[in-house]
Amino acid sequence: MSLPIVTATRYVLPLREGGSLPGVVEGNDLGTYVLKFHGAGQGPKALVAEIIVGELFRRLGLRVPELKLMELDPAIGKSEPDHEIQELLIRSAGLNLAVDFLPGSFGYDGSSGKPDDTTMARILWLDAYVANVDRSWRNTNLLVWHKDLWLIDHGAALYFHHSWMSAERFTTLPYDAADHVFADVAPAVPGIDAELAAAITPQLLVDAIGLVPDEWIAEGDRDRYLGHLTARLADRSAWLPGGAR
Ligand SMILES: Nc1ncnc2c1ncn2[C@@H]1O[C@H](COP(=O)(O)OP(=O)(O)O)[C@@H](O)[C@H]1O
Ligand SMILES: [Mg+2]
Repeated sequence: MSLPIVTATRYVLPLREGGSLPGVVEGNDLGTYVLKFHGAGQGPKALVAEIIVGELFRRLGLRVPELKLMELDPAIGKSEPDHEIQELLIRSAGLNLAVDFLPGSFGYDGSSGKPDDTTMARILWLDAYVANVDRSWRNTNLLVWHKDLWLIDHGAALYFHHSWMSAERFTTLPYDAADHVFADVAPAVPGIDAELAAAITPQLLVDAIGLVPDEWIAEGDRDRYLGHLTARLADRSAWLPGGAR
C-alpha cells in the first residue's frame, strides 16, 4: 500500500489561518489540494505525523480528506510576489503532502450543531492516543463540509519523534484534555476505550506507518514508531481521558 503521487501544476494561493503556510495547489490529475510543505517550520516530521495519524483516524471510521504525495517544482510559484512563499517553495522542491481540498468547507466552531457523543468521544480518545494538542476551540482543525465533520492538520501529533531520546516518556505521557474542543465528553471516553483499542491492530499500525515515503523517514524509524504506538496502546491507564478503566 502506498499513497498516490501527483505533480503540482499551479500554485493558487496561500492559506494563512494556521502556522505552516500551506498552499492551495492544482495537480496534473486536475485535482485541487492543500499542499503541506516539507520545507515548512517543523520539517518533514510534521508530514509523517499527518500521514500516520490521518490514516489511523480514517481507518477507524472518521473523515479525513484523502492524502496524496505531490512532486513540486518551485518554478510553479515564480509569479507569486510574496518572498516568504517563494522561499518556502524553493525549500520544498521534491515530494510534499497533498490533502484533498474541500471547497466551501468552514471551520467547526460548534455553532452549526455538534456531532453525536460517540463521534466526539472517539475523536478525543484518538487525539489523546497520538498526543495531538492541536484541537482546541481557538483552533479546532475540524472542517464542516456538506454538514459532515472532517479532521485535518495532524502535523503536531506524535511530537515524541522530534526527540527520540525522550520518546520513552511518550508511552505513559498523560493527555491534558482540558483544552480539547470535545473536553466535555471525557466521561464518555472510557466507555468506548475497549472497542477503539481493539480496532488498532498491529497490522493497522504497520499499514499506517508504511504509507510514509522513504524520503521522510530514517532507516529503522518505522520500527520506533511502531514500538512507541504499541506501548502507548498497551498503557492506556496513563493517558486515557475520563479516567482509567
Ligand atoms: N483539506 C482542506 N480543505 C479546505 N480547507 C483546508 C483544508 N486543509 C486545510 N484547510 C484550511 O487551511 C488552514 C490551514 O491548514 P492546516 O492543515 O490546519 O495547517 P496549519 O499547519 O498551518 O495549521 C485550515 O485551518 C483550513 O482553514
Ligand atoms: Mg491548523
